Amino acid sequence: MITHALENAHRRYAEKRPLSRERHARARNFLPSGTTRSVLDFDPFPFTVETAADCHLTDVDGHTYVDYLGDYSVGLAGHSPEAVRQAVTAVLDKGWSLGTVAGEEAEVARMLCERYPSMDLVRFTPSGTEANLVAINLALKFTGRSKILVFDGGYHGGFLSFSRGRPSLNVPFDAVICDYNDLDAVREAFDQWPEQIGCVLVEPMLGSGGRIQAAPDFLQGLRTLCDENGSVLAFDEVQTSRMSYGGGQALLGVRPDLTTLGKYIGGGFGFGAVGGAEPLMLQIARGGEHSYDHSGTFNNNRFSMAASAAMLSTVLTPSCLTELFERGEDLRKRADAVLHEHGFQATGWGSLIGIHPSDTPVVRASDLAGIDRRPVELLFHEMLERGVYIGKSGFVTLSLPQTAETDDHFLTALESSVRVAARAGA
Ligand SMILES: Cc1ncc(COP(=O)(O)O)c(C=O)c1O
Repeated sequence: MITHALENAHRRYAEKRPLSRERHARARNFLPSGTTRSVLDFDPFPFTVETAADCHLTDVDGHTYVDYLGDYSVGLAGHSPEAVRQAVTAVLDKGWSLGTVAGEEAEVARMLCERYPSMDLVRFTPSGTEANLVAINLALKFTGRSKILVFDGGYHGGFLSFSRGRPSLNVPFDAVICDYNDLDAVREAFDQWPEQIGCVLVEPMLGSGGRIQAAPDFLQGLRTLCDENGSVLAFDEVQTSRMSYGGGQALLGVRPDLTTLGKYIGGGFGFGAVGGAEPLMLQIARGGEHSYDHSGTFNNNRFSMAASAAMLSTVLTPSCLTELFERGEDLRKRADAVLHEHGFQATGWGSLIGIHPSDTPVVRASDLAGIDRRPVELLFHEMLERGVYIGKSGFVTLSLPQTAETDDHFLTALESSVRVAARAGA
């Protein structure tokens, strides 16, 4: 029944989008699978966007969607924030690709250190993936150890994806993988490999691995275990830094040694940052004891730096982040109530929500491993039919331009979509 329902959904989708289908067929000649981010690839083909503004996308076939994917959390400020437009326009007037410093990077670093007291110094990268690569290397060099400890379902970038049993293009770090929210497993790993684990890298909420909240004592427990075992605690806050002015770490009251950032801070332009305690960060300062080089042509790309300066100075105020968090908590609870009636559930934290076709509690990625996710794929298509765009695997991300009206539209669409998905999946 679900196979048949999905086939019908794909057929209806394709019939309504002849121009997107044509664009995709052409793209397949030059791009593997016709896209350039695996996460954007879905059946029968992704729609091609013509224009985007605020929280709306319009495709080449003329369909408009209210955007509840938010570019997998990049689009916190929507598709056309005025402050970013002005900052980028100023760069167009002043010039870019300088081969030296422009000044914006120091200003962005200052604002980040102000927000995150755990950061004494900051280094920029073009992406969150690279920020995590730098963080891991800084931790391993600092401790003189070779192993990292990460969590099943942890996603730290295209080359740092730690899902047990799933093939990956990972950088070959010597990784010990534990279950999320399982402090006993982490304790056992430290016992099994004494003085070998140099870095514990963790998302304060398991993001791509299912939007699974950290249990109340989990991150503080990691802090204690890292302290006891001389390991560096690195928080990947690429997604969760949006939870408050001081990020997830401020809400949870846990201070990591290193923090990585990315996504929305660049206002839609490529952005990554790693910041942390001075002794760790000074390893990449010239003339220091070690003085490791860390270069990257686009580390201080002027568009990214100017856009992130605008985001930090004018868009990402404490009150707007708190309101976004609260609206997310509220929307998740309302969505969960709707979903629960049909055996689905909504997980997540603040403005990041995950929809799953199961109502048994989810505390680690393996709780989702055996579940048939096709009902979520059907729900995704049903939402599109109703003019709402979410992630193909059920990710929902709030953005600032959304309103009470768009939230109502989202919930109405969810209610009828989950009914169809649950009936087909039964
Ligand atoms: C938690 C987390 N860390 C790191 C990354 C990688 O960031 P980027 O795609 O900018 O390399 C992502 C991207 O989804 C992420 O969600």
